[in-house]
Amino acid sequence: MDLNTIERNETDSASQSAAAASAPAKKVFVKTYGCQMNVYDSQRMTDALAADGYTATDVIADADLVLLNTCHIREKAAEKVYSELGRIRDMKAERAAVGREMLIGVAGCVAQAEGAEIIRRSPAVDLVIGPQTYHRLPDVLARVRGGEKIVETEYAIEDKFEHLPQPKRAEMIKRGVTAFLTVQEGCDKFCTFCVVPYTRGSEVSRPVAQIVAEAERLADAGVREVTLLGQNVNAWHGKGEDGMEWGLGRLLFRLAQIPGLARLRYTTSHPRDMDDELIAAHRDLPALMPYLHLPVQSGSDRILKAMNRRHTAKDYLALLERIRAARGDIALSGDFIVGFPGETDADFEATMGLVRQVNYASAFSFKYSPRPGTPGADMPDHVPEAVKDERLQRLQALLLKQQQDFGLGLVGSTIDTLIEKPGRQAGQKVGRSPWLQPVIVDEKAGKIGDIIRVRITKTGYNSLFAELA
Ligand code: SAH
Ligand code: SF4
Ligand code: F3S
Repeated sequence: MDLNTIERNETDSASQSAAAASAPAKKVFVKTYGCQMNVYDSQRMTDALAADGYTATDVIADADLVLLNTCHIREKAAEKVYSELGRIRDMKAERAAVGREMLIGVAGCVAQAEGAEIIRRSPAVDLVIGPQTYHRLPDVLARVRGGEKIVETEYAIEDKFEHLPQPKRAEMIKRGVTAFLTVQEGCDKFCTFCVVPYTRGSEVSRPVAQIVAEAERLADAGVREVTLLGQNVNAWHGKGEDGMEWGLGRLLFRLAQIPGLARLRYTTSHPRDMDDELIAAHRDLPALMPYLHLPVQSGSDRILKAMNRRHTAKDYLALLERIRAARGDIALSGDFIVGFPGETDADFEATMGLVRQVNYASAFSFKYSPRPGTPGADMPDHVPEAVKDERLQRLQALLLKQQQDFGLGLVGSTIDTLIEKPGRQAGQKVGRSPWLQPVIVDEKAGKIGDIIRVRITKTGYNSLFAELA
């Protein structure tokens, strides 16, 4: 996962079909910004709204309710929401002119961080709802329709997951053969650059039984690959079916027993929470894909300390050595921040050095963005924008080269591919490699949901081309 495809990863979800039979067909348009957890949350909100009589639409002008599921991680991500709200406000006015209502809701991390401020800046907004209260969405909407403006950002005491309705099986089938499943939410780590502990609250782990039940439903609907999600997914812990305290490693072993689930992944992990059992899972569990997103942010110990990451570059490298010893073909992915306050040329070179040493199969890198309320924002020696630009360019060039080399290294080899969907071009299907690359195959190579052996023939920009082995 990349809890970080933030600006890249906008999706309009329009996959709900069956409205509650009695209610008039109301339509909801959901736009998702930010990380995979928001993608998952958007689906769960769509499910909650389906139970309330809403069908999803991908035509915003048709929507009785527009819901923006937002991201606060960097300034650009947050500001995007306000420009989008400007556009939607005009559509709301157009619909009002012909006597039709359009409610506007803001959910997600901007909602949690800015609350009522959103309605102050954008008075067309009708409701603001934080991630911990999505199960209350139907009630909130009922009140909004009664004329109230609502800001719901208190943390709920009840377990939202217990109150969020599950989608119908037919709907799950439509969503495809890969799925996200949130197992852990929130963060207690307080890295000094990061808003997540403030927008998602403190760490909460979902109970084993809930997770297993959800995974079984997914498998029953044809899902072959599940990615467990959490802001600190490897900090997940809970009481297992044997009454013992389980960590993520045990949970993965349990989920691998579910018939039909052939592939498991998890993301995003913190280096400090990679315990022995989880590393053992990488060694002993064939279903656990050999791909690990393990952000390090910087290769400089000075900067790591200022970021409150609570490990050194050496700790990280030693950890990778243990993981690679457990699973030789594991590919690494990471996140990097350039231009954290006080970052010198030497600090940045240390990051470049670490990247050369690790050799990443893919990675995400960002310019530091000061976030209000985080300690980093108040630190001295902010790095000039031009320096950040230059460092980011150099880092990204290196990471891109590593990513391309990783793809090239696979040419000629035989790998498993999960066939996921029809290709963009006629006659093709798109699969997924163990390392998350799209794999383009002939459409006759297999049906969606099949895992086939293919030989890689060449690489594209970000994809692999393959033929049946
Ligand atoms: N929980 C994950 C990361 C969640 S945020 C972890 O600990 O690794 C996803 C990524 O966004 C981070 O890894 C970081 O690289 C980036 N990020 C977070 N805050 C940022 C900020 N203020 N400026 C720039 N990038 C940031
Ligand atoms: Fe943010 Fe750090 Fe928590 Fe990750 S571990 S979500 S970067 S505070
Ligand atoms: Fe963004 Fe919130 Fe995810 S800030 S990265 S949507 S946890």
